[in-house]
Amino acid sequence: AAQLDLAGRRVVVTAGGTREPLDPVRFLGNRSSGRQGIALAEAATARGAEVVLIAAHLEVPAPAGVDLREVSTALQMQDAAALASEGADVVIMAAAVADYRPVEVSEGKIKKDERGDTMTLELVRNPDILAGLAAAKAPGQLVVGFAAETEPDRAAQLELGRSKLARKGADLLVLNRVGWSEGFATERNDITVLDAGADIVLEAVGSKLSVAHRILDVIAERLH
Ligand code: C5P
Repeated sequence: AAQLDLAGRRVVVTAGGTREPLDPVRFLGNRSSGRQGIALAEAATARGAEVVLIAAHLEVPAPAGVDLREVSTALQMQDAAALASEGADVVIMAAAVADYRPVEVSEGKIKKDERGDTMTLELVRNPDILAGLAAAKAPGQLVVGFAAETEPDRAAQLELGRSKLARKGADLLVLNRVGWSEGFATERNDITVLDAGADIVLEAVGSKLSVAHRILDVIAERLH
């Protein structure tokens, strides 16, 4: 967009994938590159917003002009998101947050000689950052979630999106299909945006930057 329709707005974007440590050298992670979140941060900055980018292990550089806050784990992202969200107009949770983390983090490297041929990891649920922020949001604040689904059936995917939106209490949910070759780490994206009334308010295909602008069009319209 050529216009500065987000001038004076404070926008928080989370991006990347959290890593949950097992020991000093190993972690549980995911394939998020951070590209869609970075594109949102870049597009919001271009439209005049003051952007805080909470980044977990980005595979591409953060855009210029954002307030970059680097985190690693889901718990660190939760703290950074809570802090940055105070007074923000928009919070966009594009990061892939680990649903679980190891119950115990080993002080030293886990050794196979001590574990034998099989080993069991015990995991504990991470807090749902998006649901927490949505529950605590200030009047007028817009909270936007993402849902990366591998479900191939369109109707089933929309159904998953609608129930996720309701469960998390977000204002908007961006659905995108991911698989071994789609979504993560690619330059393009194919998304559907649902609003809290469960209506489809946007369908967009294209570069992650063009998709980011289309998502921000919906957000900007709802801020006014
Ligand atoms: O439940 P699911 O992981 O599919 O939800 C995805 C959305 O929820 C994304 O916006 C993601 O950033 C957010 N999320 C979160 N905290 C978690 C898990 C996901 O904020 N622990």
